[in-house]
Amino acid sequence: MQKLGKIIKVSGPLVVASGMDDAKMYDVVKVSEKKLIGEIIELKGDKASIQVYEETSGLGPDEPVYPTDKPLSVELGPGLLTSIYDGIQRPLQAIEAKAKSPYITRGIEANGIDRKKKWEFVPTVKNGDTVGEGDVIGEVDETSLIKHKVMVPPGVKGKIEGIKKGEYTVEDTIAKVGSTNISMMQIWPIRQPRPVQSQLLPTEPLLTGQRVIDAFFPVVKGGTACVPGPFGSGKTVVQHQLAKWADADVIIFIGCGERGNEMTDVLQEFPELIDPKTGKALMERTVLIANTSNMPVAAREASVYTGITIAEYFRDMGYKVALMADSTSRWAEALREMSGRLEEMPGEEGYPAYLGSRTASFYERAGYVTCLGSDKREGSLTVIGAVSPPGGDLSEPVTQNTLRVVKVFWGLDAQLAYRRHFPAINWLTSYSLYYNDVNPFMKQNAGDDWPEMRTQAMDLLQQEARLQEIVRLVGVEALSAKEQLVLDTAKAIREDFLHQNAFDDVDTYTSAKKMYWMLKAILTFHHEGIKALDAGKELKQLIELPIKDKIAKAKMIEEKNMSELEKLTEQIKSEINK
Ligand SMILES: Nc1ncnc2c1ncn2[C@@H]1O[C@H](COP(=O)(O)OP(=O)(O)O)[C@@H](O)[C@H]1O
Ligand SMILES: [Mg+2]
Repeated sequence: MQKLGKIIKVSGPLVVASGMDDAKMYDVVKVSEKKLIGEIIELKGDKASIQVYEETSGLGPDEPVYPTDKPLSVELGPGLLTSIYDGIQRPLQAIEAKAKSPYITRGIEANGIDRKKKWEFVPTVKNGDTVGEGDVIGEVDETSLIKHKVMVPPGVKGKIEGIKKGEYTVEDTIAKVGSTNISMMQIWPIRQPRPVQSQLLPTEPLLTGQRVIDAFFPVVKGGTACVPGPFGSGKTVVQHQLAKWADADVIIFIGCGERGNEMTDVLQEFPELIDPKTGKALMERTVLIANTSNMPVAAREASVYTGITIAEYFRDMGYKVALMADSTSRWAEALREMSGRLEEMPGEEGYPAYLGSRTASFYERAGYVTCLGSDKREGSLTVIGAVSPPGGDLSEPVTQNTLRVVKVFWGLDAQLAYRRHFPAINWLTSYSLYYNDVNPFMKQNAGDDWPEMRTQAMDLLQQEARLQEIVRLVGVEALSAKEQLVLDTAKAIREDFLHQNAFDDVDTYTSAKKMYWMLKAILTFHHEGIKALDAGKELKQLIELPIKDKIAKAKMIEEKNMSELEKLTEQIKSEINK
């Protein structure tokens, strides 16, 4: 038994206690008789600085601090999916029920995973089998969409004994492996990445159904991306679209409330979302972590680790997991506040000097991996973080530190949003370092000449930016007919291809094939147009062709009528050459 500590100072979410010489960094402690949950974030001699995840008002010197001798951890097992948690994995519903009010009163303990619920455990191994860490020993239908794989925890190996079959709770022993009793639940410290066998090179895009992303700035399964943008530029809509449409099995959504009521919106909206692929509730393959505005900022700091640990656990089962954090700036602000209270030497704009390494260690938990386990199954964890730079200024520290580690940058542009061009991802400044990695996949799944088409489209947009400068200076008359056609085609790429309405039933999602044929139509018009101009046709004649209208409406063609879209290219050719 560790001895009790004693509070010597309270400063907002930071409590300093003495008599803590037995404790370790990142141990959980319970603060005061109210048993508020805190985590040790600094140790100096016998003094511990404790980040408290609950309101500390009313606490004072001499109150006790109870050690637990355990690091801040999450519970992993059946029951995670459909859950809505706070930053330290307390189910919001359970806390509300206990508090008998929507405002969480303090010191409430609630298990991350229901202890009473029984799950139908179906073994996949038999007594006498030798198993090692990561091996799947049985399955549970966690929801109608996801089979939960019960795995041998890291570090355990041996012969299976007493394997069970039937209904059990997460704490019941369902097998013995060597000398270890195995249940359906694992406990894992949130600040420690879960182990894998090896990292693989990701090459498969995480298709999102959002054309500007899948076509120009793809992210891969196991990759990292960030979405910085000022207030109102569309960060949350992008994240929601990805949660709904990304080609992932399991979604972890971390909401670090931007504005007061934004998290409330998420809490209302998410449980109502329908998974477009299955028609079931999206929550059946989602875990939501919500930092509501009545929770102290410190809880945001824990929430990103809680979220990513749960995400790693589903990756370990061999699933494709996508994690969205909206927004990581709020997490960084929590770091800044704690650092200030610890009186650490401030770095840029008051953020701690370790902001960069913390950001990196979060995104580095993404990856495409060979999971632990002798079947060498593969899993992936893609991490997509929104960033909200104050005033949209991308030179600020959180954006800069994020850009240093992520491989995709979707830069949201206030002006595009103002013009209601959505998604407001700026095509001239955004980038993806996976651009070439996904070529083989896209050739196979979109079309053989996809890489060339994409390069041409990007090139036309860059030419447009240059030509617009000239137009601004000397007027459009200074341009040749071909240059004017470039402007017209670039406009079509922007308006008919990149612009995509998240709230339209058809436009909200585009498959790789549809994307291919949409862009094909626009580029065919361009190439045939250039040829026609060479042959002496007037630009005006071209631009006024009725087929232009069909190109503009191509986005409204439903996936099931794809042949209609494929025919468009031939129609364009014959109409131009009539
Ligand atoms: N893809 C989109 N399609 C249609 N409207 C959009 C799209 N993205 C953003 N919007 C509009 O912009 C508004 C603000 O977007 P939001 O994601 O809340 O911004 P942020 O999170 O950056 O503050 C939305 O309420 C919506 O009206
Ligand atoms: Mg937002």
